[in-house]
Amino acid sequence: MLKAREAVCNLATYHPPLSGRQGLRLDFNENTAGCSPRVLARLRELTSEEIACYPEREPLETLVAAHLGIAPDELLLTNGVDEAIHLLCETFLEPGDEALIVVPTFAMYEISAAATGARVIAVPAAENFRFPAADLLVRINSTTRLVAIANPNNPTGIVANPEDMLEIARRAPQAAVLVDEAYFDFYGKTLIGHTRELPNLFVARTFSKAYGMAGLRVGVLAGPPPHISLARRVASPYNVNGVALACLPAALTDDDYVGRYVSQVRQGREELQQEFRRWELPFWPSHANFVLAQFGAMKNTFIHSMRQRGILVRDRSRDYGCEGCVRISLGTTEQTDRLLRAMREVLAEIGAKEAAAK
Ligand SMILES: Cc1ncc(COP(=O)(O)O)c(C=O)c1O
Repeated sequence: MLKAREAVCNLATYHPPLSGRQGLRLDFNENTAGCSPRVLARLRELTSEEIACYPEREPLETLVAAHLGIAPDELLLTNGVDEAIHLLCETFLEPGDEALIVVPTFAMYEISAAATGARVIAVPAAENFRFPAADLLVRINSTTRLVAIANPNNPTGIVANPEDMLEIARRAPQAAVLVDEAYFDFYGKTLIGHTRELPNLFVARTFSKAYGMAGLRVGVLAGPPPHISLARRVASPYNVNGVALACLPAALTDDDYVGRYVSQVRQGREELQQEFRRWELPFWPSHANFVLAQFGAMKNTFIHSMRQRGILVRDRSRDYGCEGCVRISLGTTEQTDRLLRAMREVLAEIGAKEAAAK
C-alpha cells in the first residue's frame, strides 16, 4: 500500500480561514488597497503569447537585486516567502536535524521544517513576546541546522535586536539562519547587507504585503551566493509564474504608491494602538501592518460583532501564549477610520467602556 513519509503523515493540516471573507479584510495582513495601478495596467496588457511562454526568472532577478542593492547571484526569486522557507528546509535539513523557531510565530517554518523529518524546537518568546535571544543561544547545538526568525514577527509585531540575530548566526555557523522580513516595508530596518559577512545568513522579502501582490506570489530569498545556488537547484526553474514576473518591473517603478500606502498604515497603527490604550486593552507595540491585542473573555463577541459590521479581524487564540488575542491589520486612512468607528461601537456595546471612563 502506498504510504507517505512518516514526517508528512505527522503534519497537522494548516487551514487559514480563507472562506467567507466578504468585507473589510483586516484578518490576513494583506494590502487592503490592492496593488499599484501600474501593475494592473501591465496585467491588462498581457498577450496570449506571453501566457504561452515558460517564464524567464533571471532578468527579473537582476532587476530585483538592483532594487535591493545586492548582486543577482545573491538572490533567488521564489513563489512567495512560503517557497523560500520550503527551499531552505529542503536544501539544509536532514531527518533528525534540529530547527529552532520562536513561538508564537508564522506557521510555515514549522510545517516546512517538520516535513523534512527535522525536529522542530519551539523556543517560547520572552516576557511580553520579546525576542528570546538568550534562550535561542542556549538551544543551539551541533545538530541545529535551521533557525527561523520573523522580523517583525507575526502575530506579535515585535522586532529583534539586529545584533542578537547576528550573534545567533555567528554562534550557529552550521545552521541556515533565516531572517524573514516579510513586513520590512512597515518597519524599515534590514539585515540584507549582512548576508555578505555571514556565510549562513539568509533574508526573505515578499511582494505580498506592502506591494499588494499576495495573489501573484513573489518572494525573495537573499543570501550567500554558494548557498543560493544550491537552493536554486532545488527550485523549479519556473517557480515564479510568468504573469507575476511580467508585473514585477511595474511594481518596482511605483515606489510612490508603496510609500503612500505604508505611511497610511503606520499612521493607522499609531491610532489603533492609541485606541487600545483608551480602552485599557493590553496590546503589543507593533512594527508591522497589524497589531495584536488581548481581548480576554470579550474576544469572541468582539470578533463576531466586528464581522456583523463588515470588518474581519483574526482570532489568534490558538497561537502559543495568545489566549484571548485578536490580530487586526491596518490599511488606508479611510479604512482605519472605519475600523476605529466600528471598534468604538462594539466595545461600548460589549461593556468595555467603563474601563476607558476611569
Ligand atoms: C512572517 C511571514 N512570512 C511570510 C509570509 C508569507 O509571505 P508570502 O505571501 O510571500 O508567501 C507571511 C504571511 O502572512 C508572514 O507573516
